[in-house]
Amino acid sequence: MPAPDIASLYASHVSVLQQRTERALDRGGFDHLVVPSGTLHYQLFDDRDYPYAVNPQFKAWVPLTQTPGSWVVITPGQRPKLVYLQPFDYWHVVPEAPAGYWVPHFDIVVIRTPDEARAHLPKDPARCAILGEAQSALGDIAPNNPPAVLQYLDYHRAYKTSYEIEMMRMASRIGVRAHRAAEATFRSGAGEFDIHLAYCAAARQDAVELPYRNIVALNEHGAVLHYTELDRDAPTDSRSFLIDAGASYAGYACDITRTYARDTSGEFQQLIDAVDAAQLRMCAQVRAGTDYRRIHLDAHLAIAGILRVFGILKLSPESAVETGVSGVFFPHGIGHGIGLQVHDVGGFAESDRGGTIPKPEGHPYLRLTRTLEAGMVVTIEPGLYFVDLLLDGLRGGAHADAVDWARIEQFRPFGGIRIEDDVVCTEADPINLTRDAYAESGAG
Ligand code: GLY
Ligand code: MN
Ligand code: MN
Repeated sequence: MPAPDIASLYASHVSVLQQRTERALDRGGFDHLVVPSGTLHYQLFDDRDYPYAVNPQFKAWVPLTQTPGSWVVITPGQRPKLVYLQPFDYWHVVPEAPAGYWVPHFDIVVIRTPDEARAHLPKDPARCAILGEAQSALGDIAPNNPPAVLQYLDYHRAYKTSYEIEMMRMASRIGVRAHRAAEATFRSGAGEFDIHLAYCAAARQDAVELPYRNIVALNEHGAVLHYTELDRDAPTDSRSFLIDAGASYAGYACDITRTYARDTSGEFQQLIDAVDAAQLRMCAQVRAGTDYRRIHLDAHLAIAGILRVFGILKLSPESAVETGVSGVFFPHGIGHGIGLQVHDVGGFAESDRGGTIPKPEGHPYLRLTRTLEAGMVVTIEPGLYFVDLLLDGLRGGAHADAVDWARIEQFRPFGGIRIEDDVVCTEADPINLTRDAYAESGAG
């Protein structure tokens, strides 16, 4: 495959954003879109700053994630403007002079202090949709976040441009490289902290650069959905490994989960293989016109079917879903939109004028309820866990007989399983960015 021409992909991306912005401004009755990159946050009663997180509305325009105090201004009919803060500062490394494929698309003004930006922003704040957090205010230019503008932009953010998909492909390659290193480190007998370090080293990304905190869970820790503790010592008996870890590229995220068994001929490996096969079938459901809630509900049936085959569940899959028993083992959503943010905005948006598409009753943790269309990128991340808290609830409730408790005891020491890929919906077959990156980088 020839290497994609990033410069021309980016040119089309900016043009799409300009069209969207024109319509969004029209909806809100504004003349300019003004987007601050954001400013540093400080710890209470301290002069230490938290890791800087750029305003996602800013990095939608430019692949800059470490430039606090900068601004993008979009005025229909004019070239986009970037007010770029490159401070005189001998305490910190200052952002480099603007360079790269994106530069020709902007009128760029370099400023040396944050306050200088005001002179380069539109004169009348009342004519501006200013998207950002309150502390980005610069005099009379204070974020107003007009709902009509945000609803339009957030809704359409779900449809990725070819440029964005390419950035996510790059992020996926980095993530897969790091996942392979993490697996090898687990196989060598290392503990969670060292696996995490091996992951960061292979990604060439520090923890604060990753799109979310790594979940590196050995044994029972795999049953804690957002386990981020990182035990310093390796367990004496390292049986299983669940890793949910991403990577960033040009402001875009990947979100990947894999689960491994130490004993690759044991029953837990068979359970992983069953979830993996089911996950691939779910990925194949990522097609234009499919209600994402359908994939979530079908996933419950699939997980219940696996539990039944493994002698854990005594009910039919249909009854397990109906009674809520499947939710004891699969207590989160099947996934979410992903892009500039690992949990992308607009997951419940009914239209670009607002409205909410409800979650299925009894499924409060689903983060995306829209019907899939070409260009959307979603995760598919079924799970199957042995969570003490939820199992205790099952044992004490009306459906305690629905499961074989002795079988559950056999699997509990392995924690749980989650397999997560990032999948692009197209007009034809879906593109699995994660599996493609694994295939490119060798077996697996
Ligand atoms: N890594 C968080 C998630 O999978 O949604
Ligand atoms: Mn996810
Ligand atoms: Mn994840």
